[in-house]
Amino acid sequence: MFAFQLLSTLSSVALLVSAAPAFPAPPAKGQCCDTSAAIMDLPTNQTQLVSPTTAPLYVALGVGIQNYTCSATTLKYTSIGAVASLFDISCIDKTPAFATVQTTAFKAWSAVPAGISANTIGTKIAAPTLLGFHYFVPSPSGTGISPMWDFTSTGKNAGNATAFVIAAKAGDILAPTDSATNVDWLALNNVQGSLASKIFRVDTVNGQPPTSCVAGSADISVKYTAKYYLY
Ligand SMILES: *[C@@H]1O[C@H](CO)[C@@H](O)[C@H](O)[C@H]1NC(C)=O
Ligand SMILES: *[C@@H]1O[C@H](CO)[C@@H](O)[C@H](O)[C@H]1NC(C)=O
Ligand SMILES: *[C@@H]1O[C@H](CO)[C@@H](O)[C@H](O)[C@H]1NC(C)=O
Repeated sequence: MFAFQLLSTLSSVALLVSAAPAFPAPPAKGQCCDTSAAIMDLPTNQTQLVSPTTAPLYVALGVGIQNYTCSATTLKYTSIGAVASLFDISCIDKTPAFATVQTTAFKAWSAVPAGISANTIGTKIAAPTLLGFHYFVPSPSGTGISPMWDFTSTGKNAGNATAFVIAAKAGDILAPTDSATNVDWLALNNVQGSLASKIFRVDTVNGQPPTSCVAGSADISVKYTAKYYLY
């Protein structure tokens, strides 16, 4: 009797799963997995990005845009911030999809029409849990803007006003492959907030601006994806 119930439960689960896209069973919305065995891969020939000795608190995929403005003096684009949705990828960390999830996500993200939110991309990479958002805010120092990772409105941290981090760049290397196309890999340290003390941006796809611009041209947004490790 029990075996029959189990079987019928399993087969209805199987039916649900087979109706989903061709991915392994995605984690339920809101679910994050154990990150204690997650390891961040960094190039060995550099000292700018140093992996902490503790396990990451969050392993996330960022899907968004990098914004640039044209400098009339250098005729080059300079960064004026970024906006990204951050999906939890801890549940696929030990699957074959993990190594290339940023590329898979970028293909999906570059294919959606303008005006479609990056929030829709998580379901296409079997990582539906929206951890939060990455964007820029006025720097706590009073000058310029600073990157923020804001988990205060989503998932298990929703309603927790301190679940954010504003950070400052501590290390920067060119993307190990195709650095003219893919934005730099970064290490950042906490300046404010209690979400994490260190953040790394690695495995970047796209996001670099054209090499030059015409004076007076409009600001541009360039789509990108990256992995973010929060410690
Ligand atoms: C980036 O550009 C988009 C428009 O493409 C805009 O909605 C967004 O507010 C900009 N964000 C920043 C931080 O510049
Ligand atoms: C590190 O190695 C990568 C390729 O493995 C190369 O593209 C990069 O230029 C090297 N970086 C430094 C700082 O030597
Ligand atoms: C709020 O979030 C911070 C950062 O993740 C965490 O350290 C703290 O324990 C959380 N507070 C509550 C009440 O959950």
